[in-house]
Amino acid sequence: MMTRIGFLALLLIPTLAQASPSRMKIAADNEPGQRMIVTGQVFGADGRPRAGLQLYAYHTDAQGQYKRDAQGVARLHGTLVTANDGSYTIDTIKPGQYPGRNIPAHIHIHLREPGFDQEEEIRFTESMHPDSDGVFRVRHDFRLR
Ligand SMILES: [Fe+2]
Repeated sequence: MMTRIGFLALLLIPTLAQASPSRMKIAADNEPGQRMIVTGQVFGADGRPRAGLQLYAYHTDAQGQYKRDAQGVARLHGTLVTANDGSYTIDTIKPGQYPGRNIPAHIHIHLREPGFDQEEEIRFTESMHPDSDGVFRVRHDFRLR
């Protein structure tokens, strides 16, 4: 006979599976914009996959605005930790370009460990097209320096 705790644990399993630390959702489902999923791997300077690395990402909304809070933190941001194979997944929207400036839309990335912070950018061109389900899928790997 299943105990009450066992039953609750079964209910929680799907929730925990979705909450994998190497995957994060930055933009809520109701955020205006083109849905986008960015996946990739982080490699060390030695070329080997780097597990357990902190990846902080932030980007503009579909209008190209960061809408930073009083501490300067962009509204659309999040942190994940790379998986055993160095992989990560970001579920968000495609950022908008800065209004009135000819700079490609981009996501700012910080790859962080204690005492280490490598800044990166993922840039998007207007020639990119979504898949048949309407979602942009982008692959971007990083290498630590
Ligand atoms: Fe920026």
